[in-house]
Amino acid sequence: MMANIIDGKAVSLGIKEKLKERVESVREEGERVPCLAVIIVGDNPASRSYVRGKLKAVEFTGMESRLLELPEDVSEEKLLQLIGCFNENSDVDGILVQLPLPRHINEDRVIDAILPRKDVDGFHPQNVANLWLGRKCFVPCTPQGIIKLIESTGENIEGKRAVVVGRSNIVGKPVAKLLLDRNATVTVAHSRTPDLKAVTREADILVAAVGRPGVITGDMIKPGAIVIDVGINRTDDGHLTGDVDFASASEVAGWITPVPGGVGPMTIAMLMENTYSAWCAISDR
Ligand code: GUN
Repeated sequence: MMANIIDGKAVSLGIKEKLKERVESVREEGERVPCLAVIIVGDNPASRSYVRGKLKAVEFTGMESRLLELPEDVSEEKLLQLIGCFNENSDVDGILVQLPLPRHINEDRVIDAILPRKDVDGFHPQNVANLWLGRKCFVPCTPQGIIKLIESTGENIEGKRAVVVGRSNIVGKPVAKLLLDRNATVTVAHSRTPDLKAVTREADILVAAVGRPGVITGDMIKPGAIVIDVGINRTDDGHLTGDVDFASASEVAGWITPVPGGVGPMTIAMLMENTYSAWCAISDR
């Protein structure tokens, strides 16, 4: 039996279309529409491609954007100063600094400089703390998108065994918290987990966020499981491939996300939602 495909592109399109309607009515009322400021440093091709995707989505939804492209050798001081300008600019609702940054720049200091109420990535320590305390906050985009994809299957998260492979601050840790909030029994596995297969085979929901191509194979999956592939790995011939070996996994899983067309588009849709909600908070809506 072949797994059902979770169509992240279709789900994300639905979300963006709803936002587009809301932004249109804001515009019709003659009000300022939501605006996202994006900062990119250097010319990492993957980062450039992600930023292009984000700006395209801003345009699709009818929101505004500001793009700041800085050279690879920009000083940390200069970058912090420019973030300060966006913080103070009342026409800017959300600020996103594309990661990773060049090695001479301290990423923590950059994230700390973003006003928490404009931190649409949800990376600022204040948002991270509020997430773990169960308070209102910006939820990081990829984890939020993963939850929506799981919910799109119509299956209940409550009571399920969820295994997250990977423990990054951007994906592994926050998605584990979101699954816990929905009453899954959550395990976080990682590169030092002995007998990873024994752990993943217990998963009704398996989230693969390792960053290495094809490490999750069909024999590591519980029959019927929901498999979410967060990996975006570029192969030698320039194609994108996930952390899950799709061919073998799709013969065992009940549901599976493709790469591309799974988690990636959802991350962008959630960024649009966060930008809209930043605007709502600023505009007293
Ligand atoms: N680099 C990889 N993922 C992300 C993300 O979600 N946001 C930003 N700003 N940079 C990233």
